[in-house]
Amino acid sequence: MEMNKQSRGQFLKTLGLSSKALMAVYCIGLVSACSSEEETVTPDPNTGNTGNNTSSGVTGTTTGASIDFTIDLKNATYSKLTTDGEFAVIGAVIVANAGGTYVALSKACTHEGTTLAYRKDQKDFFCSNHGSEFGIDGSVQISPATSSLKVYKASFDATANTLKIS
Ligand code: FES
Repeated sequence: MEMNKQSRGQFLKTLGLSSKALMAVYCIGLVSACSSEEETVTPDPNTGNTGNNTSSGVTGTTTGASIDFTIDLKNATYSKLTTDGEFAVIGAVIVANAGGTYVALSKACTHEGTTLAYRKDQKDFFCSNHGSEFGIDGSVQISPATSSLKVYKASFDATANTLKIS
């Protein structure tokens, strides 16, 4: 055992490197490997009302960290939401009528960001890109997605016939 340590030390000396110097080289290698794996954050291209909606019929903030908007269900574009199985993408949110209950979740698949679609028969959100499926509670049912969707509060005002998402 002692011979082995001496042999290693002698070998390093022949290279002109101390063990500390070798460790430094090794650590630098690790740091550069880690930094090369850093994710590039792509800015959200959504600004205001985007998706398959028009700006009329929606008021409020539909993207970003402070999502809070109201949908006028009397508006021709959104009146379909009163029907079971219908859905609309508004800004960063997908709103669906799931069996008479309004649900609102983040529209982007947590795998690679593809916009989801609501499926009435399965009562779930489906990603056509790689097949991930999410429950109406946002949970992952089928991978490759591994993270849940963000769920927003959907409040229906029967008197005004509006739906508030926040
Ligand atoms: S982007 Fe949705 S499953 Fe890959």
